[in-house]
Amino acid sequence: MIDRKNLKLIKEKALNDNIPIIMDDTLEEVSKILKEIKPKRILEIGTAVGYSAICFSEYLDEDGIIDTIERDHERVIEAIQNIKTMDLENKINIFEGDAVEILPTLNNRYDVVFIDAAKGKYPFFLSQALRMINKNGIIIADNVLYKGYVMSDYNKHKQRTAVRNLREYIAKITEDPNIETKILEVGDGLAISKIKMK
Ligand SMILES: C[S@@+](CC[C@H](N)C(=O)[O-])C[C@H]1O[C@@H](n2cnc3c(N)ncnc32)[C@H](O)[C@@H]1O
Repeated sequence: MIDRKNLKLIKEKALNDNIPIIMDDTLEEVSKILKEIKPKRILEIGTAVGYSAICFSEYLDEDGIIDTIERDHERVIEAIQNIKTMDLENKINIFEGDAVEILPTLNNRYDVVFIDAAKGKYPFFLSQALRMINKNGIIIADNVLYKGYVMSDYNKHKQRTAVRNLREYIAKITEDPNIETKILEVGDGLAISKIKMK
């Protein structure tokens, strides 16, 4: 059982420090899925300070593991501390570095992949997730609607690459006949993709 009091402190500190963490309604949807499949192994791309990984750990199968990747050194230090405080060192492995470099070095099989990092890299993250996901596994991507920009004709310079790549991500997960996808309007848009064939 997770220590709710400490979890609340971790969440409050992250929000005070302006660290982007999973929104409550998004967490609720992801938790429903995890509760149903009881994953043996989860891959998370974008740890921040470990809040979502800590929340997800509650739904792991016995001896289940979460691998999570974060490139910001200060966040990694804080995530390690938070995971220790929650007594979850044997369930959550942090990989420090750019997921673009780390993902190709991983060769585990995952029941769930949670994508929550640089939006411009979502198509690459998807290709790596598809390489490692189990049959009937679920790939979940947060922030796919990006404040509504993705579904509008918004084309401002700064967000252009992110928007283009999020559109590419959505096209891939909705057009592939072996992937069953639904997109929920929770948080900033949550794409849930079930991988039917491998
Ligand atoms: C939205 S936050 C993750 C929040 C976390 N999943 C949670 O809900 O508690 C995104 C994190 O991804 C990290 N990130 C962004 N691009 C990355 C990349 N290419 N490789 C590794 N980490 C990345 C950022 O530093 C940031 O901490």
